[in-house]
Amino acid sequence: GLEAEPLSAHDIERLDRSTNLAEGLPGRAYYDPAFYEAERKHIFAAGWVGVGFASDIPNAGDVVPVSVAGYELILVRLKDGGIKCYHNICRHRGMKLVKDKGNVRTIRCSYHCWTYGLEGNLLATPAIAGVNQNNAEDFDLSELSLIEVRSGQYFDIIFANIDGKAVELETFLKPVRERVEGIFDFSLLKPADPATGRGSRDFAVNWKIVLEGGIEDYHLPFVHKAFDHSKDYTSEIGGEVYSGFSSRRSLAEAQKRYATKASDGNALPFFPVVEETGVAHAVILFIFPATILTCTPSYVSASLQLPRGPTLTHYTSRTYFIGDAATAPEFKKLRDENTIYWKQVLDEDDGPWTQVQAMAPIREELNLPSRFSPHWEVALHNFQKTVAAKLNSAQ
Ligand code: FES
Ligand SMILES: [Fe+2]
Repeated sequence: GLEAEPLSAHDIERLDRSTNLAEGLPGRAYYDPAFYEAERKHIFAAGWVGVGFASDIPNAGDVVPVSVAGYELILVRLKDGGIKCYHNICRHRGMKLVKDKGNVRTIRCSYHCWTYGLEGNLLATPAIAGVNQNNAEDFDLSELSLIEVRSGQYFDIIFANIDGKAVELETFLKPVRERVEGIFDFSLLKPADPATGRGSRDFAVNWKIVLEGGIEDYHLPFVHKAFDHSKDYTSEIGGEVYSGFSSRRSLAEAQKRYATKASDGNALPFFPVVEETGVAHAVILFIFPATILTCTPSYVSASLQLPRGPTLTHYTSRTYFIGDAATAPEFKKLRDENTIYWKQVLDEDDGPWTQVQAMAPIREELNLPSRFSPHWEVALHNFQKTVAAKLNSAQ
C-alpha cells in the first residue's frame, strides 16, 4: 500500500514560519513507528551519523559493536591504524557477529564459526563440506566479505554513512570546522583517562527529545538550579549541518558554569585564546542529526544520541581535556567532579524529557502544536526544520 507521509503539507507550512509564529513537529513524531521508520531511512541511513569514538578502539584488532536506529555496525581498528566500519552481520545466516567490545585477531561468528579478517574478508568456513572439510567446491569466499559501511573520522568522532550516498565527510563538516577551530585548538586535547570523563546511559525517550533538551538554554534556571541564563547568548545556525548556540562569559563565571574548578582549588587550564582575551567562549554545535560537540573554555566533549527505537535513546559521551589535565593524577579530582556534575545535569533533564515524551500521544490526539521562544529556541526550530526537510525531500 501507499506509505503515509510522515509530515503533511500543513505541518511543513506551520513549521516553516518565522520562529515566533512557527509550530513544531506534531506529537506523533516522538513515538509513531512509521515516523521513526522514515527517520531511520531518510535521516540515519542517508547522511553522516556519529557512531563511535576512535579512542575507544586504539589498538589493532580492537572492535566495538554499535547499534544506531536499527542498523547494527562494527567499528574495527586495522593493523595499519585505519578504521573500518561493517554491518555486524554474518554472510552465512545473518548472525550478529560482534556482541561486545574486545580485541580480536579475526571476527568469528559464534553460530557456525565462519571467520573474517579485520579487513572484512571471509577467511575460513570450518567444516562447511563435512567433518574436517573446510572448503566446499565452487564456493567462493571472496564473494562473502563483510559488508563495509562508508566511514570517516573527525576529531575523535567516527562517522558512518550507511547508504553510501552522502557528500564527502570533509565537505559535510566544513561549516563545523570553520565555526570552532579558530577558537578551540583541538590539537591540544587528549581523551580523558577512561576511568573518568565518559558517560553512557539510556533515556526512555525519542532521540529528538534528547537533542531538543540540550539545544536551548531557555530551561536552564528552571530545571538546573546551578545555572543562570546567559546574558550573551547567540543561536548558531549552520543550515542542515548544525544548529546550536554559543555564549561568552567572564573566566570566573565560566569556571562555575562548566565545572572547571575543583573543590580542592585546582583549576583546569583554559584554551590559550581564552587566556589571551579574557573571554570564555562556549560553542555548542548539534551536528545533524544526533552528534553534539560541546566546546567549552577548558575542555571539549562529544556526545552521540543513538536511537534504539521510537522511544529509546542511547546516550554516550567522551570528554577531552587540555594536555596533562586529561590524564594527570593531580587533575583526577577535577575530572571526577566534572563527570559527576554533568551526570547530575542529565539526571535533572531526564524528568522533563520523560514527561514530555509521555504527553506526546495526547498532544497528537488533541492536535496541539508546540511553539518556540524566538530568543532561545531558534536553533531548536532549525533542528526541526532540518528533520522535516530530510523527510520531505525523500518523498
Ligand atoms: S550464521 Fe554465521 S556462521 Fe552461520
Ligand atoms: Fe538541561
